Amino acid sequence: MEVFRTREELSRWTTERRLRDRVLVPTMGALHRGHTSLFDRASDLAGETGEVLASIFVNPTQFGPNEDFDAYPRQLEQDLTQCERHGVTAVFAPGPGEMYLPDASISITETKLSNHLCGASRPGHFDGVCLVVAKLFLLTQPSAAVFGEKDFQQLAIIRRLVRDLNFPIKIIGAETVRESDGLAMSSRNTYLSPEDRKQAPVIQQTLAETAEAITSGSMKTPADALATMRSGIERARGAKIDYLAAVDASTLEALSEFGSSPIRLLAAVYFGKTRLIDNVGVPLSPSES
Ligand code: PAF
Repeated sequence: MEVFRTREELSRWTTERRLRDRVLVPTMGALHRGHTSLFDRASDLAGETGEVLASIFVNPTQFGPNEDFDAYPRQLEQDLTQCERHGVTAVFAPGPGEMYLPDASISITETKLSNHLCGASRPGHFDGVCLVVAKLFLLTQPSAAVFGEKDFQQLAIIRRLVRDLNFPIKIIGAETVRESDGLAMSSRNTYLSPEDRKQAPVIQQTLAETAEAITSGSMKTPADALATMRSGIERARGAKIDYLAAVDASTLEALSEFGSSPIRLLAAVYFGKTRLIDNVGVPLSPSES
């Protein structure tokens, strides 16, 4: 008989037995190459013997009253074709009444990572994400789940959810997939007018240039980085900045200086009514790596 005295020992044991069994990719549908790259990653993880489960559910609890829940693109048939092409073994696509009982009364609130960045302009958003992701984890019992780094704050919060509620699930962050001009793939890109679509790559370009300047040592402080990001993005016609941030990549805390913490630059920018988010990591300079 094996006896486990620590969470780590228990988790290692459960992971060894369950990893590659079932890999979950939660989505809200309207699938694009960003999502299918998550399926591909999940297929690699699952290997020959494992299975990839995709969920498709436009989750009402993560949308604010004035957000785009009703307008959010829904295209189940097309999505199912994409899933099939990318090695998904099964899809969970619950109907609107399936996930929440009308008198449901339990919520989940993450209190440290959720209040700033996207949480500041989308109050309650991450409560809704935590709730649906916890329910999906419980319903689907995966050994691992894959989330895109494009929603960097969401990824950090889900890691925290898993850590604090002891879900025996490995969370995998997958790199953002981009259009050829650098714009991060998003279901919301379809809302952009042709002119806004032309301007929108400025977000990634500015973040990437700033990251490079930090790595090369020519940009010395977070304040300088934020000022450069602001002036770069504001040059684009129609861009309205929601937030810009230079944070510690693991705690999401705003940095007051560049030291040994891993740096992540994040931005949320409106073009018209469409709010786009993006982020880039700052590679270590060769002398530090
Ligand atoms: O990133 C998303 O698409 C959603 O927030 C998620 C994780 C599927 C929860 O509804």
